Amino acid sequence: MMKDELIQYGYSEFRYASQGAQGYVVLAKETHTNKRFAIKGIPFSDVNGNVDQAKQDQVKQEKDMLLQCNGSPYVSNLIKAIDGTKFTFLVLTECVGTLKELIDSLPGNKLNEISAIKYCKDIAEGLHYILSKKCIVNDLKFDNILIDYNGNAVISEFGFAQTLPKASGYSIQEYMGKFYFQAPECYDPKAFKDYDVEYKKRNIQTHTNPSQRSEACSLGYIFYVMIQGFKQDLAFKKQFELPYYQNFETFKYKKQLRYIIDGFTQFAPRERLPVEEVLILLKGIISFEFDLDQKFVELISQETQEQANQLNQEIEFIQNFNNKYYPIFKNEDSALQEFQSSQDEIEKLRGYSKNLEYQINSLKALQVQAESKIQGQDKIIKEQETKITKLTQEICINILNYLIQSTQYLQKKKSLTSRKKQKIIKATQINSDL
Ligand SMILES: Nc1ncnc2c1ncn2[C@@H]1O[C@H](COP(=O)(O)OP(=O)(O)O)[C@@H](O)[C@H]1O
Ligand SMILES: [Mg+2]
Repeated sequence: MMKDELIQYGYSEFRYASQGAQGYVVLAKETHTNKRFAIKGIPFSDVNGNVDQAKQDQVKQEKDMLLQCNGSPYVSNLIKAIDGTKFTFLVLTECVGTLKELIDSLPGNKLNEISAIKYCKDIAEGLHYILSKKCIVNDLKFDNILIDYNGNAVISEFGFAQTLPKASGYSIQEYMGKFYFQAPECYDPKAFKDYDVEYKKRNIQTHTNPSQRSEACSLGYIFYVMIQGFKQDLAFKKQFELPYYQNFETFKYKKQLRYIIDGFTQFAPRERLPVEEVLILLKGIISFEFDLDQKFVELISQETQEQANQLNQEIEFIQNFNNKYYPIFKNEDSALQEFQSSQDEIEKLRGYSKNLEYQINSLKALQVQAESKIQGQDKIIKEQETKITKLTQEICINILNYLIQSTQYLQKKKSLTSRKKQKIIKATQINSDL
């Protein structure tokens, strides 16, 4: 039926994409341009052929919201709307599939850290753009996020999208999405009273209708599920801190991701991080991870970046020459490694200096030894000197004594000889006298 009408408008090569709550989505080619589109067809009337006014109003709302939010690569792009005879057709840029299909096809139904950061950055870009147009999606979930042919995540589905009145900042319509991603303040206290009771206990004033803060909260839960998987009981435990599982500890950016997810899902709406700020952080991570130019991060106004700068000391922001700010993320692992290697360097130097100290000390010991040896030798020399002197003296005395003795002996001998001579003379005289 829908096909027949679309053929009349110049489309061909139909491929079925989905049958949603409101209508059908087909992928088709615009025959004369050869371009492919996704076409969402919403029938005017119900199964009994009666014109369904509520449905018509809803289609108009969806079309208006799509038009209001047109212009971002991260938001579903409405090419044109065709008011057919039985259907309203919304002609959209064709995407490859949904984020839900992608996640469902992965082991553990989880994305890896970097893919999650990338897609969350894309969704934050889309949501930031939508919020800047004073609208909310009001139904953020994985099957409403598409992956386009460039591999970017795109927010689609504006069936429940709403404008945010300037004065209040709260949508007139209530939250229409899945309760899993619903901000706790948006729960209807008649259906589930725990959050309402807790807000009253904490003396926090809240509104059940969606706002920028409740949208940020939904994005927080989307991000959480991307990396931690779907946790059944989460929907009723939003007043407690989110549990993080073991694999999370191995993440490179675990500190930043926790800051973002916990920041988005704060129980008190006013304590939540604004989408804009998280977008800067996510862009910061991506530019760091992929060595991108800082221009990648600079999209956001300086004022916002300065505000963000004041909020968290743990994340550094750098002001560059153009007076723009951007966050730097030394990822923990490499920072730790750097720290470790500088510690190693210090240890090495410490080792060197210890070695040198040891060498100096042993040289000192050698010097002391040498000195004491010299002193010892001095003593020996002195002792020997005194010994020599003593010996010399002794020798001298001995020689003297010997000389004296020999002189005495000689004198004795002399006197003996002279006495002998006299005796001989006497004898000779006697002889001659005789
Ligand atoms: N632009 C698109 N490109 C490819 N598939 C799309 C596109 N838009 C929607 N779809 C497919 O159709 C499904 C329903 O579209 P959606 O706009 O979410 O309508 P519904 O109100 O039925 O949920 C999506 O989940 C997706 O599978
Ligand atoms: Mg949908």
